[in-house]
Amino acid sequence: MRSFEFKMPAKVKFGEGVVKEIGAVLRGMGYTKAFIATDKGIVAAGICGIIEEGLKAGDFDYVVYDEMIPDPTIEVVDEAAAILKASGADVVLAVGGGSPIDTAKAICMLQTNEGSVRDYLFGGTKTVTNPIMPLICIPTTAGTGSEMTAASVITNNQEKTKVSVTHEYLIPKYALIDPLVQMGCPPFITATTGMDALTHAIESYVSNRANPISDAMGMQAIKMIGKYIRRATGAGAFDMEARSQMAVAATIAGVAFMNGGLGVVHGIAQTLGAFVHIPHGVANSLLLPYCMERSCVGNMEKFKEIAVALGKNVEGMDLRDAAFAAVDAVFEMAEDLRVPMKLSELDPAKRHCSEKVEESIFEAVADEVMNYRLLADTPVKITKADVIEILNAAY
Ligand SMILES: [Fe+2]
Repeated sequence: MRSFEFKMPAKVKFGEGVVKEIGAVLRGMGYTKAFIATDKGIVAAGICGIIEEGLKAGDFDYVVYDEMIPDPTIEVVDEAAAILKASGADVVLAVGGGSPIDTAKAICMLQTNEGSVRDYLFGGTKTVTNPIMPLICIPTTAGTGSEMTAASVITNNQEKTKVSVTHEYLIPKYALIDPLVQMGCPPFITATTGMDALTHAIESYVSNRANPISDAMGMQAIKMIGKYIRRATGAGAFDMEARSQMAVAATIAGVAFMNGGLGVVHGIAQTLGAFVHIPHGVANSLLLPYCMERSCVGNMEKFKEIAVALGKNVEGMDLRDAAFAAVDAVFEMAEDLRVPMKLSELDPAKRHCSEKVEESIFEAVADEVMNYRLLADTPVKITKADVIEILNAAY
C-alpha cells in the first residue's frame, strides 16, 4: 500500500433543529459576538432568521452581513474582510451554500494574514502563515462539503479563472449540519448540489491519491446519495430523512475529497464556470457522466464498485461492462432528476448560466483546464484533446 496522510477536519454536530442551540454553543466556546456571513437569498428564505432566533435565545450578540455573492471575486472578498475587521466580532458564522462558506474562509484568513486575497491564491506571492479567525459553518445545501475542507474557491474576473486559497488553517472549526435549514432548498438546487456531492465522492474514490480512509468515506457517500437524492429532490419539502441523509453524505464527501482529491470533472466545471458563470452544481452534474466515460478505463475495478453502490446489478457482466454500468447509473440519475444533460441546452433564462455556452470557447477552456491543480488525480492521463472531446460529447 502507498503511504498516505489523512487530515481529520472540523468537529461536526448533526441534528434536526441543532442550529437553534447556536447561541449556547458559541457562549460555551467562549465567544462574545458573531458575524453572520450570508447572502440575500438565505435571508429572504427565512433561514437566517432561524439562526438569529438561536442566537437571541442564547442572548448572544451578532451582526448580519448579507452581501455574499455566488462565485465570489477578489474585490468582493477584500471588501467583506474590511467590514468584518471593523465589526468587533470574534467568531464568523457562515450560513449558505458553497459561495458564502468559501468567502467566509477567505475573509477569516485575511483577519490574521496581511494583504489581499489575490496574494494568497494558487501561484500567488504569499502563503497563509497564521491560523484564521474562528469560523463555524451552517451549510444550507447538501453539496459542496466546503464546511469540511481546506479550500476557498475565488473567481478572478480579469483572467477568467477560478483559483483557490488552500491551506489547513482554512478548515472551519465547527460544522453544524441541520436538515431543518435544508428542507426548503428548491428541487433543482437539491438535484444539482447533490450531484456535486456525488462528484466529490466519485472523483475522490477513483483518484490517484485515494487512500483506504478516503475510500471508506467516498463509498459511504456514494451509497447514501444514490439511495436518497431522488427522494430529496422529489419530495424534499416533506422528507426529513432524505434531507438528513443527503446533508450528512455531502459532509462525508467533503472529507473524502479533501484527502483523496478531485479530478477532471471539477477541472472543467470550474474553468467553464469562470468563462460563463455556470453554477458549480449545474456544471458538475452535467459533466460528471461524460468525464466518467473517459476516466472509466483508468480504474475499472473501482468504477464497478461505484455501479454496485448506485444500485446496478452487474452479475454476469465482464469487468468492462460492469465498470461502464456506473456511467449509465449517473446518466439515469441526471435524467430522473431533470437536470440539464447538454451544454447546448443551458439556458440563461432558466438561470442555468449567465450566457449561452458556445463551442467557440472550448479551445480556451481546454487550455485553462490544463492548469487545474488536481487534474493529475484523474485515473487516466487527461490531455487537452481529451478535454475538447469531453466538451464536444457534452455539448
Ligand atoms: Fe464541487
